[in-house]
Amino acid sequence: MTMRVDLRSDTVTRPTTVMRRAMAEAEVGDDVFGDDPTVRLLEEETAAFLGKEAALFVPSGTMGNQVSVAAHTERGDEAICESTSHIFLYEGGGPALLSGVQLHPLAGDRGLISLEQLRGAIRAADVHFPVSRLLCLENTHNRAGGRVLPVADVEALTAEAAIHGLRTHLDGARIWNAAVASGIPEARWVSSFDSVQVCFSKGLGAPVGSCVAGPRDWVDRARHYRKRFGGGMRQAGIIAAGALHALRHHRERLAEDHARARRMAAALAGLPGFAVDPAETETNIVVARLAPGVADPQRWVEALSVRSVAVVRFGPAALRMVTHLDIDDDALDFAVRAVREVAAELGRAQD
Ligand SMILES: Cc1ncc(COP(=O)(O)O)c(C=O)c1O
Repeated sequence: MTMRVDLRSDTVTRPTTVMRRAMAEAEVGDDVFGDDPTVRLLEEETAAFLGKEAALFVPSGTMGNQVSVAAHTERGDEAICESTSHIFLYEGGGPALLSGVQLHPLAGDRGLISLEQLRGAIRAADVHFPVSRLLCLENTHNRAGGRVLPVADVEALTAEAAIHGLRTHLDGARIWNAAVASGIPEARWVSSFDSVQVCFSKGLGAPVGSCVAGPRDWVDRARHYRKRFGGGMRQAGIIAAGALHALRHHRERLAEDHARARRMAAALAGLPGFAVDPAETETNIVVARLAPGVADPQRWVEALSVRSVAVVRFGPAALRMVTHLDIDDDALDFAVRAVREVAAELGRAQD
C-alpha cells in the first residue's frame, strides 16, 4: 500500500478497531429524554476527571464554546478573549450571531494576554459600555503552535477576572496535551475556570464529540442552549462510547505525539527555507514558519501534497503540521523525507 501522511490536523484520525467495537456495542437510549446510559456515563466520568460538578456532551468543540458563551451571558454583554483564539477567529462570529455577545479581542504574546491588558479591557459601569461578563482563554493554544500557557499566568488572569466579577471559560480543546506535556493534571488546569470545553475528537482520536463542564445549574442552562442550537442528539451513546474509549485509553499516548512533533520541528530547523525554533513546539502542533523571501506557503502545501504529505497553510508565511494517533514513526520519517526534498526545491529565496 502506498503511504499517505496526513498532518493537517489531529482531527483526521480514524477510530481504532477496539474503539469501533466499543461504539458498536454501546448501550443507547434517547439522550434528549436523558436516558442514554453511555452519554450519561461519559458526562459523569468527564466531570469527575475534570473536577467539575457536571458535564454535557455536545457534537463539537465549536458548539461547546458557543453554548458556554450563551450560558454565561446576556445579550449586549462583552467577552474578552485573545485575538488569535479559536473562538474569535474560527467560530463564524458565533457569539454575536447566537448570543448577541460582542467579543473583545486582545493581542496576546503567543496566545497569552497580560494582566495589564485584561485590567485595561474590563469596562467601567457606564450606560455607554457593554457589560464585561466573560473571559475566555485557550489552552493549549492552537495558533500559538500548541503552546501550553503557563499555569501561573492562567491562574493570575482568572483570579483577576473573578475580582472584577467576570465569569471565566476555558477552551480546552487540547487540555489533554497541556496536561501530558506539563505533568500538571487536567483538573488543576481547569480548576480556576467556571467552565471548560474539552474535545475528544482531536488528540484523543474519537470520531466526534466534546463536553462542557462546570457547576450543575450552569450545565443545565448549557443543556437548554444545546437544544436551542440544534445539538440535542438521540441515540448518541454510539458516539459517546468512542469518546469514552478515547478518554480512558488514548490520553497517555499523547506523549508520543509530542515527541514526534519535536522530532519534526528539529528536522525543519536545519532545512533551507524554514525559520523554525524547535523550542516553540511544546505539544503536537508544529508551526513551520517559512524564511522571508521563499516561495508562497501554498506552493509548499502543493509540493508536499505531490509527495503524499498533507499539511495546511497557517497564515501568510507558515505551514501547520500536527501529529496524532494515526502518525507512527514510519509515517513521520516519510514526512520528514518529503519536507527535505521540498526544502531543497523551494527553500532558496526567490528573486
Ligand atoms: C482550540 C480549538 N477550540 C475549538 C475547536 C473547535 O472544535 P470543532 O472542530 O470540534 O468544532 C478547535 C478545532 O480545531 C480548536 O482547535
